Amino acid sequence: MHSILVIGAGSIGERHLRCFLNTGRARVTACDTDPVLLQTIAKTYHAPVATDWQQAIASGQFGAVVVCTPAPFHVPMATQALQRGLDVLIEKPLSQSLAGVADLIALRDATRRRAVVAYVLHVYPLLTQAREFLQAGELGPVLHATCTSGQYFPGGRPAHAVPYAKTYYRDRRTGGGAIQDALTHTANWMESVLGPTDSVLCDCAHQALPEVTVEDTVNLSARHGRVLVNYTLNQFQAPNESTLQFNTARGSVKIELHHRRWGSFRLGDKDWTWHEVPAADRDAPFQSQANRFLDLIEGKSAPMCSLEAALQTLRFNLSAIASAETGARVHCATVPDCLQNPPNP
Ligand SMILES: NC(=O)c1ccc[n+]([C@@H]2O[C@H](COP(=O)([O-])OP(=O)(O)OC[C@H]3O[C@@H](n4cnc5c(N)ncnc54)[C@H](O)[C@@H]3O)[C@@H](O)[C@H]2O)c1
Repeated sequence: MHSILVIGAGSIGERHLRCFLNTGRARVTACDTDPVLLQTIAKTYHAPVATDWQQAIASGQFGAVVVCTPAPFHVPMATQALQRGLDVLIEKPLSQSLAGVADLIALRDATRRRAVVAYVLHVYPLLTQAREFLQAGELGPVLHATCTSGQYFPGGRPAHAVPYAKTYYRDRRTGGGAIQDALTHTANWMESVLGPTDSVLCDCAHQALPEVTVEDTVNLSARHGRVLVNYTLNQFQAPNESTLQFNTARGSVKIELHHRRWGSFRLGDKDWTWHEVPAADRDAPFQSQANRFLDLIEGKSAPMCSLEAALQTLRFNLSAIASAETGARVHCATVPDCLQNPPNP
């Protein structure tokens, strides 16, 4: 039985706690600075709780931590956990700044611990099938791709959670806004298909979400090598929909996450050939992710997002923000570390 400490028991931390418990392979302790939240967690899940994460990681009771606090805490908490000899699963985005990331990667290597990032799209069977089909190369190289997604973000949090406008989400410097909160998921997965993003040109605005001023809408044009990619996303529309399309000279692949299907359309075909994946509840991918992380720390092979891949996506996030601020195309390799002085979340 694994002993897992979830640091930050808010919206996603509670989900991780529940999903790790539901693997049947772990005892899970919730750690948060909010005593009221901890009371609710203890009552709902009969799980042990703690208020001081540093004491908890020093206690010798835990084999691994799941870092579910806002972005500015991710790297410092993961660093200390590795120093204590623990394995680490870190929520996305890896950070809101490049500070400390290279040292974190070096520490992972020196300690030979596992440290991976919870970009959950990596465990969606539908996406894995479509990526394998594309990478098998039958349709030739991808030349152009489009990613269109949106959802009503305030509806995604548990009823008893702190309202989104009072969390990290309200400020880019704490990891908030549509780029770092939502677009980052798609960008990270697209990079797993097409390779790292070279450059981005981004436009974004606050359009609708009440009680915040940070961007809730993004249009972004990216280059991944010779591939042109268009991303468009908002966090206020009523339907929760996400469609990704990859176009080659010989055909196209379309993924409709909301219809749980992916399809191919070869030049000359009259219609799409669809492959459907059975419906799953919202916890299912997070439970798969928990099982993969436990497999990984047992020494088994379990594909998850590496620190290197998450660092590349962090460069994507920062480049998108820098581009939106300046109106200029920004190259991810040389992005300015524009959010490196966060306020206290
Ligand atoms: N993978 C996903 O689908 C997904 C979904 C939501 C959020 N997230 C990410 O997870 C992170 C947290 O998001 P959230 O929505 O759960 O936020 P949240 O505000 O609901 O929860 C964060 C929790 O961290 C706690 N916290 C802050 N400082 C702490 C400290 N020093 N010690 C212990 N606890 C501390 C807060 O009290 C709060 O309860 C963010 O990086 C966010 O981007 C990922």
